[in-house]
Amino acid sequence: MSRTKEMSDKTVPMAGLNLDFSESPVIYDFIQSKNFVQGIMGPVGSGKSYGCAAKIFIKAVQQKPSPIDNVRYSRWAIVRNSYPMLKTTTIKTWLDLFPEGTFGPMLWTPPITHHIRLPAREGAAGIDCEVIFLALDQPKDVRKLLSLELTGAWVNEARELPKAVIDGLTHRVGRYPTKRDGGATWHGIWMDTNPMDDDHWWHRMAEKEKMTGAYAWKFFKQPGGVVPVDVENLPDMPEANDHIFASGKWWKVNPKAENIHNLPPGYYQQMLLGTFDYLKTLGLRAQPTASNDFKVRREASAAPMQRLITGKPGLIVNRDCKLLRKALAGGYHFKRVAVGAGQERFRDAPNKNEHSHIGDSFGYLMLGGGEYNRMTRTHQLGGRPMGQSSASTDFDVFA
Ligand SMILES: Nc1ncnc2c1ncn2[C@@H]1O[C@H](COP(=O)(O)OP(=O)(O)OP(=O)(O)O)[C@@H](O)[C@H]1O
Ligand SMILES: [Mg+2]
Repeated sequence: MSRTKEMSDKTVPMAGLNLDFSESPVIYDFIQSKNFVQGIMGPVGSGKSYGCAAKIFIKAVQQKPSPIDNVRYSRWAIVRNSYPMLKTTTIKTWLDLFPEGTFGPMLWTPPITHHIRLPAREGAAGIDCEVIFLALDQPKDVRKLLSLELTGAWVNEARELPKAVIDGLTHRVGRYPTKRDGGATWHGIWMDTNPMDDDHWWHRMAEKEKMTGAYAWKFFKQPGGVVPVDVENLPDMPEANDHIFASGKWWKVNPKAENIHNLPPGYYQQMLLGTFDYLKTLGLRAQPTASNDFKVRREASAAPMQRLITGKPGLIVNRDCKLLRKALAGGYHFKRVAVGAGQERFRDAPNKNEHSHIGDSFGYLMLGGGEYNRMTRTHQLGGRPMGQSSASTDFDVFA
């Protein structure tokens, strides 16, 4: 990727395209990455799809030309969880960057394909870049994916897909072009995603069990879109100074957030107000959680169960909360896994089943209902427990 002094050092000059990543340094580093599997996580609108789509063409241009006809051959898959999402978002981003008027027509009969052919001319090698769009809710597309001979693949919104899909893809890349045409100069997979729960495979691989070695997966993380602001750090007239009060906290746009200038003005501010305001219209008073760490949520759920208040259990669940009672009576649990030689272990994350969302919600409810304050204040009190308080249990939680 060449750079010139006149240009920003994060500009990618390329035939027919003017790619500028000076607003998005993490995306730029991600695009440069040569790791076999790479992932980027970031907030909504941070330029992930744009960067991932651009990377296809950047890699196609970097492919060594075939010794036979001086053409740079490459073939890529773009994978999404569902066909509607593929069409409404992934392909839309692709065509914004590579319009049919300039890069040739798309083939809309499945599998949807954009075959870009730029002939060799005046000594410059030609480009033959085939891009195949696949949605994994289409059995035909899944069969196709597992039989493709690819150079590489982009997995869009990877948190929506099981890790097995990425594992399967690793066997399909690096197979095109063939040795006859010089082989693939680089091959591999890149993925993008919005943030996920901390019990997700991505979180585990990026934060807890990092791979090592030549084929280690590499994970990049963009800065968040907004950051909370402590009251003592607020400017005079905060609202007039781009600070927003939402759900009991002050916020401002993260000065390190990427891609802001390519978004409509007030994008994150509106979103911040939007989510909580929308919940308010449904009669739900939502507030940001103190922590989404599973261990913290688990402790917050367990603590009231181990407490007695004037001789009565610290937690009483109304009989009408049938699903919650089922979840707490064992439905929400760790998964038992065989580890060989007849041995078993428990996973350190809850088993995803029909009880897990309810169990997770209960943890958040307890955190916001005072358990987080209790946990952190007990710590501040040097381990001495806080005084007990009792609430009337004779009320309708849904009133
Ligand atoms: N480097 C760039 N140069 C110019 N425009 C960009 C750049 N990166 C992103 N954009 C524009 O910013 C907008 C948001 O980008 P994009 O859709 O790639 O974000 P995203 O992180 O994939 O969002 P989401 O989380 O919603 O999937 C789009 O209109 C896109 O065209
Ligand atoms: Mg996107």
